[in-house]
Amino acid sequence: MGKPSTARPPSVADHKTGHDLMGVLPMTAEVRDGHLWIGGVDTVELARDAGTALYVMDEATIRHQLSEYVKWTRYHWPDVDVVYAGKAFMSLAMVRIVAEEGCCLDVSSGGELAFALRAGFPMERIYVHGNNKTPDELAECLDARVGRIVVDSFEEMERLNALALERGMRQRILIRVTPGVEADTHDFIMTGAEDSKFGFGRNQGLAMQAVKRALELPGLDFDGLHMHIGSQIFALHSFAKAIEVIVEFIAEIKAETGVEVRMLDTGGGLGIAYGLPDEPSTIKDYGKVVVDGIKEECEKHGLTVPAMAVEPGRSIVANAGVTLYTVGSIKEIPNIRTYVAVDGGMSDNIRTSLYDAHYEALIANKADRPREMVATVAGKHCESGDIVVNDAPLQCPEVGDVLCVCATGAYCQSMSSNYNKQVRPGVVFVKDGGWRWVVRRETYEDLLKCEVG
Ligand code: LLP
Repeated sequence: MGKPSTARPPSVADHKTGHDLMGVLPMTAEVRDGHLWIGGVDTVELARDAGTALYVMDEATIRHQLSEYVKWTRYHWPDVDVVYAGKAFMSLAMVRIVAEEGCCLDVSSGGELAFALRAGFPMERIYVHGNNKTPDELAECLDARVGRIVVDSFEEMERLNALALERGMRQRILIRVTPGVEADTHDFIMTGAEDSKFGFGRNQGLAMQAVKRALELPGLDFDGLHMHIGSQIFALHSFAKAIEVIVEFIAEIKAETGVEVRMLDTGGGLGIAYGLPDEPSTIKDYGKVVVDGIKEECEKHGLTVPAMAVEPGRSIVANAGVTLYTVGSIKEIPNIRTYVAVDGGMSDNIRTSLYDAHYEALIANKADRPREMVATVAGKHCESGDIVVNDAPLQCPEVGDVLCVCATGAYCQSMSSNYNKQVRPGVVFVKDGGWRWVVRRETYEDLLKCEVG
C-alpha cells in the first residue's frame, strides 16, 4: 500500500452537508436534528458521554460487509472461506462477530492469535500469515491447532516441519506465491523481478521448489497456494490477471508432481471509498471476478476447481468506523491556511502522514450545514507532519465542536501508538440506538504498566 486515493476531492469549500457524505459513512449513518447519528446513536451526545478522541464502529455495517462477502463468493462456488484479515482492526468483540458470521480469521502474529484464543474463536478456522513467524509463534500455532499456516520461506518450512514432528502432528499449509502481478490502486503492473519480501516468486523456479519440498516433508500437509497482490485495489482486472498467472502455476504443479492443489487463497485488497469521488468495486463484482475467474481458468487448464479463500480486511471495517475528536484550537494563518487542532492525531491515525491518505471530515454537531471552508485538521503531537486531514472541506469550526473523520475503521486503531505518551482512544460499537465499550480508553496507569524502573 502507500498509494493515496488518486481521486482527491478538490481543496475548495464544496458546500456539501452530512447528507452528501453517506458514501463514506457507515450504512446506518443519518443526519437528525443537525447532528450526525450512527447506529441510532447521536454522535455528539456519544462524544460528550464517552469522551474524545474516540473510535466509533457500527456493528451493522461490519456484519453486513462480512455477509456480503459470504453471499457473493458462495453464490458462484459453494466452497469459499471468507477470512477476515485481523490486522485491519482487531478486538475481542470483533473476533466474536467474525465467528458469529461464519467467517475465518487471518492472524499475522502471536499477539493476534492470542486475541483469537481469548475470544474462543474456532482454531480450525484460523489462517496464519507473516513473512517471519518466530519459532515461538509457530509453536504457539501448532499447540493451538490452527487450521492453516501460510508458509513464506524455506527456513520456515523446515522449522515448522521439525516442530510438527516433535509434536507428532501434520500441519496443513498453504504456500505463498508472488504471482509477479502487483496491483496499483487503480491498475496493475507485471513485476518481472518479483521484488517482494513476501512469498516465493515463480522466477528461478522458487515457488515450484517450495511446493516440491513441502510435499516431501512428513510434518506438512500441502493444501494449496496463497497470494496477495496489494491493498486498496479499485481495478478488478488486477485480480483477474493474478488469478490467470496462479492457476497456470497450479497446472504446472499438476504436470510436474501429479498433485492437484486443494485450495487457492487469493488474499485481500478490495478498495473502499475514502473520498467522495472514490468509486470502489462492489463485493458482488469482486466475488464474480475472483470466484468465476478461478473456475474459468481451471476449466481452461482441465483442473478440478479447488476450495477457495478470500481475505478482506479494509473493506469489512473501514467504512464501519469514524473517529470523533473535540476541536481544541483554531489558527488562521492569513492567506495560507487554517489549522483546526483536535485532541488526537498521528497516534490514532498514522495513515495521513505515512501514506498521504485522504479522509472526509465533518463537524458532527453541524452535520446539516454546508462545508463552507477548507481547513487542515491537525493533531496534538510534537511535529508538523502530525496532520489528520489535509485541506478538508469543513463546516465553520468553533472550539468545542465535535469533529468527525470518516472511514477510519481500518488500519487506524490497529496502527495506533503512544507517541508523546498519548493514551490511545477507546473503541465503542454502536447498534440499534445503544453503544458499548469494546476497548476502553487507556489511562496513564496503562502507559506505566510495563515500566520496571
Ligand atoms: N491478506 C494478507 C496476506 C495481507 O497482507 C493483507 C493486508 C490482507 C489480507 C488484507 O488486505 P485488505 O483487504 O485490508 O486490503 N496499513 C496499510 C494496509 C496494509 C495491508 C497489509 N496487508 C494501510 O493502512 O492502508
